[in-house]
Parts: sequence; C-alpha cells; structure tokens
Amino acid sequence: MKRFVAIGECMMELSPQGDLWQMNVAGDTFNTAWYARALLGPDWEVGYQTALGLDGFSDRVLDLMQAAGIRPLVTRHPSRSIGLYAIHLHQGERSFSYWRSQSAARTLADDAATLASGLAGADAIHLSGITLAILPPEGRDRLLGLLQAAPGQVVFDPNLRLKLWEDPQTAREVMTRAASIADIVLPSFDDEATLFGDATPKVTLDRYLGLGASEVLVKNGGGQILARVGAESLALDLPRVTPLDTTGAGDSFNAGYLAARLAGQGAEAAIRAGHDLAARVVRHAGALMPMEDIRA
Ligand SMILES: Nc1ncnc2c1ncn2[C@@H]1O[C@H](COP(=O)(O)OP(=O)(O)O)[C@@H](O)[C@H]1O
Ligand SMILES: [Mg+2]
Repeated sequence: MKRFVAIGECMMELSPQGDLWQMNVAGDTFNTAWYARALLGPDWEVGYQTALGLDGFSDRVLDLMQAAGIRPLVTRHPSRSIGLYAIHLHQGERSFSYWRSQSAARTLADDAATLASGLAGADAIHLSGITLAILPPEGRDRLLGLLQAAPGQVVFDPNLRLKLWEDPQTAREVMTRAASIADIVLPSFDDEATLFGDATPKVTLDRYLGLGASEVLVKNGGGQILARVGAESLALDLPRVTPLDTTGAGDSFNAGYLAARLAGQGAEAAIRAGHDLAARVVRHAGALMPMEDIRA
C-alpha cells in the first residue's frame, strides 16, 4: 500500500445562507486530502494528520474522515476544541474571520514521537503555509526537521493567510525554509505577490526553483498556469469559468495534480487534471464536493 499523508488543521466552517449560517468541515490541507482520497486508487492510503479535541465537533470531524475513507492520524487534546471560521461575502469578495488561536490543531507538533509516527512510511507528504503558521516556533522546527529527513516526496503549498502569522518577515522566512525542503511547490501568484512582492508569475517560479524544488507550479486564479516539472517548462492557458464560490480552488487543484502525478501521468496531463477539478469546485458552494461527484 502506498501512502499519501496531508498534515494541518481542519475546522468548522460557517458560511452565510441568507440570515442563517450553514456549518461544514473544511481546512486547506484537509480539502486536499479529501480530493486526493476521491481520486487516488485503492492502492493508496490517504491519511490526515492533525490534533482534535474530545468534544462533539471533534467527533464530527473524525466521523467524516472515517466515512470518507481517510485514515485519521489524530491526537486528541484533553481540553482544546477545533477551530472555527466564518466566511463573509461583501460585493462578491470573500473574507474570513477566525476563532482558531486556541485550537487543538496548534498542538499537532507538540510530541515528536507522535508527529514522526504519523508521517513514517509516507510516499508523499502534503503541508501548507497554514500548517506552519498555526504552529509555535518549536513545532515548526520539529515538523520541518522531520520533513527534511523524510524519504518520500514533500509537497508544499505556501497558501498565505497573513492574519495567521506573527509578522510578514517570519512568514517569508518559514515559507522559504519549507520550500527549500519541498520537492514540489504549488504557490498561487496573488499570495506570492503579497508576501514577496513578486512582479510576475515567472519571478515566483524562478524563486522556488532557485530553492531547489524539482516541480513548481504557479497557480493564478483562472489565469495562465506557469510550471517547471523536471526539465519541462509549461505555460498553460486553460478555460476560465465564472465562479460561484472559489473556496477550495487551490486545494482541489493540488489534489488533482498530485493524484495524476502519483498515478504516473506527465506534467501537462496532471496540470489539466488539477485545473479541471478546481474549475468544477469553484462552481460548487463550499470547499468540499461529495466524493461520488468528484469521481463522476
Ligand atoms: N475562475 C476560474 N476558472 C477556472 N479555474 C479556476 C478559476 N479560479 C481558480 N481556478 C483554478 O483553481 C486554481 C487555483 O486558483 P487560485 O485562485 O490560484 O488558488 P486559491 O484558491 O489558493 O486562491 C487555478 O490554478 C485554476 O486551475
Ligand atoms: Mg491557496
């Protein structure tokens, strides 16, 4: 059995439905694990590594993982619960409010042995800048140290959420360290322009290639995807759709791309697979599509 492990934070999500709120479960790396589970074959185990509490909302997340066929690699904190975020829509633009500063997931790297055992034997490990942002400095060091020594492929999506970082300089330093350990880096251009001041997607591509990654794909909303995969350079203009809700676009793209690559497909086919999935996800409300619809 081959193993894909994603690591990070999964939360309760509140999305506005008129005057009411709909509650779902979501979180960037969790979304990627969800779509990867749908797309990878039965020869792959997909695990999700995080920390939850002992409360009913934490149980709900665990039940969802089990029902989806995602192996929970979960420690349970005795007093903390899971984080919560709410989506605000203002003139079509989305913004987020977070209640996650005391979430159980912030302790996911507290115990070195538990952290190592979840990641052990993984053929591919996926993390994001959000995974790193929520950890205390010693947790970041512990996780990055394990990834540095991991024999499998390390996949990193910087996925900037400035509010989660103590300051932009720390975000730049930690993201750069993570990317220099990663084999595959999957940034989105708007994040990189914000944090690093990149003027063009080419600047982003070259910066991450310079840190040693062998595969870098620069996502850019519905715009051109610029990539270097091994010796192959690609610039793909793929069909743009009118989005209904862009939540989960980057996360599902990552899963579509990775599932195709892990199944042995070439770079262009994998980018198209990632884009096709993400283009469906943005026309769907919420981060997660039902498993059966993803495979359809
Ligand atoms: N309007 C769109 N039409 C088609 N595909 C889209 C659209 N917006 C996003 N995507 C797909 O989702 C991917 C990620 O989008 P991006 O906005 O860069 O990520 P994020 O969700 O992390 O902000 C893009 O590379 C593209 O494949
Ligand atoms: Mg993103």
